[in-house]
Amino acid sequence: MVPSTGYNKIRTAVLISGRGSNLKSLIKFSRSSQSPISIDFVISNKSKADGLNYAKKFKIKKKILNFKNKNLSEKKLLSILKINNINMICLAGFMKILSKNFIKKFKGKILNIHPSLLPKYKGLNTHKRVLNNKEKYSGCTVHFVNSRLDSGKIILQKKVKISKKETVASLSKKILVQEHKLYPKAILKVFNL
Ligand code: GRF
Repeated sequence: MVPSTGYNKIRTAVLISGRGSNLKSLIKFSRSSQSPISIDFVISNKSKADGLNYAKKFKIKKKILNFKNKNLSEKKLLSILKINNINMICLAGFMKILSKNFIKKFKGKILNIHPSLLPKYKGLNTHKRVLNNKEKYSGCTVHFVNSRLDSGKIILQKKVKISKKETVASLSKKILVQEHKLYPKAILKVFNL
């Protein structure tokens, strides 16, 4: 992607389903002078997602698309993205799988964050599976989204050490701190910054 200059930051939408802590860290980053992106739209498939409060707080446009009918919701999403000149999508805890067709239209412009060292532990309940397997390390990954779940090209990863007394809660907390740093770094890398 071509890096932005001056005030022309790449207009970006963030897709969420829940808490939105990565959304918050992305908004903060996007408002720094070093950020090549601006966050101009927040989409949630859940009307009660806590993350929507950040859209309100930071005065960012938002829309709920429930994805019960994926085809219809993706059509609406495409139209929102077009009308708002959105050129990049960051998935941040978005629990729906985008269709191949949609991804093709935004090829190389959709990023996701996953709380494991991909390609290990794709999918849900990563921390539980990591601990059950007595792994010594876990971490988080930012990757491009392709049509296969958590399988697109890796942009950046951060490794964390698992302690002897680690629980799902403590590991998830530890990794989340790193996620908030990794996503902005990965965006800078995508733009060769
Ligand atoms: C994060 O752990 C992210 O890696 C995963 O879902 C979680 C979302 O958390 N995809 P939040 O909504 O950003 O707080």
